[in-house]
Order: sequence, then C-alpha cells, then structure tokens
Amino acid sequence: MSERDVTICEVGPRDGLQNARGRMTTADKIRWIAALAEAGLPEIEVGSFVRPDLVPAMADTAEVVAAAKRIEGVSIVVLVPNRKGAERALAAGARKLTVPVSASRAHSRANIRMEPEQAVAQVAEILALARDADPPAEVAVGISTAFGCTLQGTVPEGDVVRLAEALAEAGVEEIGLADTVGHANPAQVKRLVRAVRAGVGERLVGLHLHDTRGRGLANAVAGLEEGIRAFDSSLAGLGGCPFAPGASGNVATEDLVWMFEDMGLRTGVDLDRLLAARAILAEALPGEPLHGHLARVRCAA
Ligand code: COA
Ligand code: ZN
Repeated sequence: MSERDVTICEVGPRDGLQNARGRMTTADKIRWIAALAEAGLPEIEVGSFVRPDLVPAMADTAEVVAAAKRIEGVSIVVLVPNRKGAERALAAGARKLTVPVSASRAHSRANIRMEPEQAVAQVAEILALARDADPPAEVAVGISTAFGCTLQGTVPEGDVVRLAEALAEAGVEEIGLADTVGHANPAQVKRLVRAVRAGVGERLVGLHLHDTRGRGLANAVAGLEEGIRAFDSSLAGLGGCPFAPGASGNVATEDLVWMFEDMGLRTGVDLDRLLAARAILAEALPGEPLHGHLARVRCAA
C-alpha cells in the first residue's frame, strides 16, 4: 500500500445507506465495497449492527462483513451502538468497531435510547469484549453532534471535552468528532479540536463531517490545519442520521480526495476508479441524488 498523508474512511455503505430512499441489495453492497477498496480507500465502514426493525437497510451487515473481510488491503469498520451490537459484530468477524456516543443528550436519547453516561458505560463493556475477542478488536468512538444538534440546539464545548475525557478514562484510544447535522464552521472546528486535544491529547484522531450547509471541505481544512489526519466521508455525498432531524449527506469522498491531492497531500486513492464507483451507486440505488463537485466538473470537461 502506498504511503499516505491523510487517511480517508469511506462511510457511504453505513452512513449513506442508512439514510437512502431506496434499499441496496447485499450483492450490490459487496460489489460497491469491492470497487471502493479497489480505488485505494484504506478504510471502509461497511454497515452497522443496530436494530433491523429501526434501520432495515443495515439488516444484512453480518453478510456484508463476511464478504468484505475477504478483500485484501482494506480495513473493514462497523458501527455498533451497544453491547448487543458489539457481540453481533464480533461474531460476524468484524475487528474494528466504531461506537457513536452523542454529546447532545436529546440526540443520544433519540438515536440510541440512552443517556450519554449510559453510553460511556456501554463503551467500557464493548472495550472489554473487544479485548477478549480472538484476535482482539479495535474500538473507536465517534462523538456525535459534537458541533451542534437539531434536537437540542447548541452543544456546549465543555460537554464535548468532558465526554471525550470520560471516554479516555474508560480506555478509548481513538476518538473522533462528528458533525452529525453539519452545524460546524471552520473556526469552531479549530477551537473544538484544540479544546478536546488539551483534554485527551493524541487520542483525538479524526473528524466525521457532513456537508449540510456546504461547509464540509472548509471544515476539513480547518481540521487539517490543527493536525487532524483522519477523515470520514461518503462517495457522492450520501449520508445522514435517520434519528437527527435535518441531517443530510457527508462530505463527498471524491471532492475530499481531489482537494487533498491538489494540496499535495497523498491519500492513496485513485480518483478515476473512485468516480467509476459512482456508476455502481447510480445503478444500485436508482433515483438517489448523487452529489459532488468533481463529478460535475469531469462531466462538463
Ligand atoms: N442489534 C439488534 N438488536 C438489538 C440490538 C442491536 N444492536 N440492541 C438491542 N437489540 C434488541 C434486543 O435484543 C431486544 O430484543 P427483544 O425485544 O427481542 O429481546 C430489543 O432490541 C430491545 O433491546 P434494548 O436493549 O432495550 O434496545 P433499544 O430498543 O433501546 O435499542 C438501539 C437500542 C441502539 C439498538 C436502537 O435504538 C437502534 O438500533 N438505534 C439505531 C441507531 C442508528 O443506527 N443510528 C444511526 C447511526 S449513529
Ligand atoms: Zn454521519
């Protein structure tokens, strides 16, 4: 694998499909994930282990994990909201788990039906399960609604810092800040990255940005300037949390890669192959709006 300056985790198969209008078949998911891996993405979040009655699009995640694990050179990630989700993920063979923990109490209740304090306690249980797995699994936590929440409104920075510190104390080594509803602005990204880093140091690893208000790329640069080197994004800018009113797509992977590469930062991703993967998406999810500046520019050229 080539050297990279930034690591991009493609979250379309999870964040994108959980909020899509149509349902992608398991076979198409696997075909799409294979194309994303072939484009050189180092990490792909392929699904979540949540209640299938609440998020039917994620009901086949175990099958998707089994197939994705056979693809070489890519790290497969899944989202788990609680202990039961972690047990299902580990049984399916997943070895990198992301746990969403909301900084907003209102979003925490709506999304995972827990208070943030209960969510931290679940994380501790999930860490223990992951440590005991054979081979052991990695656990990262994404702090959802870290920059604001449509249900609660403002999310005080102090709440985010305290939550990050509680997670670090519970033993979490990898923490990300998620702008679930796209409220962040670049100055806020810089401020919060600094504040959280003052609390948990290098355990703050990544940013998960949504482009709801068109600030996704600007926020990514702000994070980059503060030393963040890991970013989540979604092909064609799909995405959004079904339990956060007004949530829309992630920053588009192809635009993020394009911008970083033009800035001289190596992503290890092949843009032509990445763009080609949009065709699978268009075919497998007919009618779903596909976003992204690069695709438009290339079409016009
Ligand atoms: N996967 C599948 N089933 C689960 C589960 C999981 N991760 N967690 C709990 N369940 C089942 C339980 O076994 C129980 O089933 P039973 O009634 O047949 O015994 C039932 O769900 C209720 O269990 P409980 O622990 O009370 O969970 P809950 O109903 O409070 O649900 C979540 C909690 C987090 C699983 C649920 O709110 C959820 O799936 N949310 C989706 C979050 C999401 O995808 N958000 C977007 C990405 S951040
Ligand atoms: Zn998201």
